[in-house]
Amino acid sequence: MKYARILGLVLVVLTASLSFAARAPKSAVFNSAHDFKTQYNGASYTLCNFCHVAHKFGSAPTGPSYLLWNHTLSSVANYGVYTSDSMVNQPVDLGTSSNANLITSNLCLSCHDGTVAINSWYEAQSNASYQPIAQGTDFMPSDTTVRDLTKQHPINFVYPDATSAANIGMRVAGSTSSIDGAGNVPLFNGTMQCDTCHDPHAGPSSGAHLFFRTFPSTPEQTTTGSFCVYCHL
Ligand code: HEC
Ligand code: HEC
Ligand code: HEC
Ligand code: HEC
Repeated sequence: MKYARILGLVLVVLTASLSFAARAPKSAVFNSAHDFKTQYNGASYTLCNFCHVAHKFGSAPTGPSYLLWNHTLSSVANYGVYTSDSMVNQPVDLGTSSNANLITSNLCLSCHDGTVAINSWYEAQSNASYQPIAQGTDFMPSDTTVRDLTKQHPINFVYPDATSAANIGMRVAGSTSSIDGAGNVPLFNGTMQCDTCHDPHAGPSSGAHLFFRTFPSTPEQTTTGSFCVYCHL
């Protein structure tokens, strides 16, 4: 009886927590597939340093400044793009975009295209001289390599404007920085990127699977059980 009441309460809380979206806390990266501090036994390193670094020391710091990025970027120039007659705005090849260093999908592909080692960084980590971690030895397993973007969900294209979105039965974006207008399903300068669907910090502790974002729940999703219909109405 008591347990049934507690279970009931838990279910209410769970249902409530599914009915609104929230960003995963950054700490959820701990113990996820993106927790390289644990994977490389980097006791004196911070969890975040493997991707971001607070300072790049020296007179000519290397690597992009954007998001204080610290993982060596890939030099692949051509990933290809998804194309079709029905796309409103065609994608642009990530490698050849003039602002390639500012495109968040390139941050993902710095590991996920399989050409740069996962443990390859611009700035040595703090205390590295006391506890060096080998650089440039581990590559992405081939079954998680994302290389040919002609056969993946399109990214790096401008999300259709309100009129076009309505015409093709898509959710109208709330702003140029997110589809829901509250930052939970982000756009980057109005474009869709890998991290529109995935949040690289959303590990299992935040309840996420495959680093998926928490999409605001809608009746369509509840009925179909698919997050695709959050955008494709
Ligand atoms: C596996 C690589 C990786 C690790 C580890 C990582 N991040 Fe990130 N972070 C990214 C990427 C990629 C982006 C850009 C995508 C985005 O904006 O969600 C990003 C974006 C951010 C942003 C700006 C966008 C936002 O969501 O607020 C902040 C702040 C941030 N990270 C903080 C952190 C902190 C703090 C940690 C450590 C607890 C951390 N990150 C660990 C990859 C990583
Ligand atoms: C965050 C929003 C969003 C989500 C979630 C999403 N898509 Fe898309 N998708 C888009 C946008 C925007 C386009 C570009 C539509 C256009 O311009 O015609 C697109 C394009 C496509 C296309 C190509 C359409 C064409 O005209 O060639 C297919 C197919 C597709 N999505 C399927 C899916 C599937 C399947 C899922 C779930 C696994 C999914 N999408 C999830 C936003 C989304
Ligand atoms: C510093 C390297 C690095 C960066 C940057 C990075 N990843 Fe990963 N990611 C990995 C590794 C390593 C794995 C584990 C692969 C495996 O074991 O199969 C992984 C796993 C994943 C998985 C599968 C998780 C699972 O539970 O199986 C997804 C999805 C993913 N990453 C998406 C992204 C996206 C999207 C971005 C950018 C927003 C990104 N990653 C940035 C290294 C990285
Ligand atoms: C429209 C939403 C969407 C976008 C955009 C998207 N993904 Fe995914 N991703 C998914 C879905 C759905 C899955 C799980 C089903 C599957 O494997 O197709 C997935 C799975 C993955 C996995 C895990 C594969 C595995 O088998 O473990 C990785 C890694 C990944 N995505 C990386 C990326 C990267 C890198 C990008 C940008 C180039 C990206 N994703 C863009 C929806 C998306």
